[in-house]
Amino acid sequence: MDHERRHNHQQEDEGQCTSIDAVIEEHKGRPDALIRVLEEAHSLLGHLPEELLDYIAAGLEIPPVDVHAVASVYPGLQIKTGEEINGENDAKHKICVCKGTSCYIKGANEVLDRLCRELNIEPGDTTPDRQFSLDVVRCVGACALGSVLTVDGEIYPQVKPEKIPKILAKFNE
Ligand code: FES
Repeated sequence: MDHERRHNHQQEDEGQCTSIDAVIEEHKGRPDALIRVLEEAHSLLGHLPEELLDYIAAGLEIPPVDVHAVASVYPGLQIKTGEEINGENDAKHKICVCKGTSCYIKGANEVLDRLCRELNIEPGDTTPDRQFSLDVVRCVGACALGSVLTVDGEIYPQVKPEKIPKILAKFNE
């Protein structure tokens, strides 16, 4: 995918983005809140990252064990661990930059551009040495912490472009 087309596609995503926080806020306190939030989060992301379940539990003020129990038996919901998400491409470390609305307004574009420059790849690509892959996601459910990126499923909060070299260095040791 060429650079311009990628960015156009990302801008469409930003317009459609509904943050997990907004979904939680909308349903909080209702009897069917947990199911509705799980379904909408799944629909936003295409799966449920395991760590997002704890975030949803905190947001809805429900014990995490209950959220995990419901998510694991409710039909149509797919839970993925960080390793599973990372294993979907063969890069050693998978970086995902959130470009959901909250992260976008907190500088996600600049973070992504810095990553592209540092890694010398475009979003959707993997470095030639297979050390890093770089992708864009709509929301990882930590909107209050934006701009957010994840490396191998671990959330890095309040990322600024100037922090990128230090984050990458950690994985190049
Ligand atoms: S917009 Fe939700 S974590 Fe970035």
